[in-house]
Amino acid sequence: MITHEQNEYLCRTGSGTPMGELFRRYWIPALMRQELPRPNCPPVQVQLLGERLIAFRDTQGRLGLMDEFCAHRGVSLWFGRNEENGLRCPYHGWKYDVTGQCVEVPSEPAEGGFCQKIKLKAYPCIELGDVVWTYMGAPSEQPPLPSFEWTGLQPSQRFITKRWQESNYLQAMEGGIDSSHVSFLHRGDLNSDPMHRNTAGAKFTSSRTNTVFDILETSGGLLIGARRNADPGFYYWRVTQWLMPWYTLIPPYKGQPANGHAWVPMDDDNCMAWTMTFHPVRDLSAEEIELMRKGGGVHAELIPGTYRPVANRSNGYLIDRAAQEAGKYYSGVRGLAIQDASVQESMGPIADRTKENLVSTDNAIIMARLRLRKAAQAVAEGTRAPGLEEAAQSVRSASFVLPVDGKFKDAALDAVKVRKGEHHVAV
Ligand code: FES
Ligand SMILES: [Fe+2]
Repeated sequence: MITHEQNEYLCRTGSGTPMGELFRRYWIPALMRQELPRPNCPPVQVQLLGERLIAFRDTQGRLGLMDEFCAHRGVSLWFGRNEENGLRCPYHGWKYDVTGQCVEVPSEPAEGGFCQKIKLKAYPCIELGDVVWTYMGAPSEQPPLPSFEWTGLQPSQRFITKRWQESNYLQAMEGGIDSSHVSFLHRGDLNSDPMHRNTAGAKFTSSRTNTVFDILETSGGLLIGARRNADPGFYYWRVTQWLMPWYTLIPPYKGQPANGHAWVPMDDDNCMAWTMTFHPVRDLSAEEIELMRKGGGVHAELIPGTYRPVANRSNGYLIDRAAQEAGKYYSGVRGLAIQDASVQESMGPIADRTKENLVSTDNAIIMARLRLRKAAQAVAEGTRAPGLEEAAQSVRSASFVLPVDGKFKDAALDAVKVRKGEHHVAV
């Protein structure tokens, strides 16, 4: 349980809020590269940290991300004409380049230089790992490029989707940190989903509900060990990574691709749940990609042309009570991603944490909240944000079996090292 004030501190991400200022120290996944596939393609609306923005790729292929609304009288530049190295508002023809600079105001004489005085707020963008990232903080604090394992693989080795979740980022991310719910909410799917079933990990996770945690603090977040009983004399360990400021890496299942999420605030009541599936050794197969597009693995089936899941709040997540009763889907909702979204959205736009009753399996959540708060305080006092260095980002999740007297910490720290071209440690 935390106070209302503490909850507000953690959940508000607009400009000038403590968390908002912390998050503006990181490169932020803004949109998928394929949303801006070619020069002069249609512009795309993007919402980040409570700011409404428009993204476009100009005639030279340069990326722009700027205030969505025209400086003249506030028309959305989503209607804009993307032409000759700039986005032109269709109302009266004002035109902006990728830096947000107004380059033409047709009604005014060019020699008067009026347009030079008009500039929309704009943020720098980079393309890395099939994602367009932006940096929304002070230029002097711009960090090095992201160095997560999946960003450095071949495009054929990864598959990335994003889905709109109607909740604050924090309760979504807490679901990614909380490894104990897997034995309940996702139990049915572990034994049926093709990207989970038939592994020792799926067997232990779905059948052993008693989870004991061992959590290590790392420079860039938390290494969260969740222990379940395996065969007599052994423990099955799942190691989740929580990485500053909003990434989680899911423990892998043997032979299967690994998964990670980014829980990125759109505004305080909505977040974009990014899902990265990647295999360090091989290309993803056509069957795997087709399966994920249809809501298999940890992805969601989306309404075509949108990032809204087909099963969503407006249709009761298509809950199937017969499947719930039969245990096919433990909650009756199909698919791991929508199972998570449904329970998290049911908490309300911002979970009221003054009413919760936390237990030992929530320890990692408590620690993550504390780390976020400390990081925001440190940044407010002028310190560099944590977790920006390669050593903090270039890590893996893992799962393994150890004898009951085995040393978890040593095994975990070794298992999470990124070894190029080698499989994840997984059972
Ligand atoms: S509102 Fe955009 S040009 Fe007038
Ligand atoms: Fe989940």
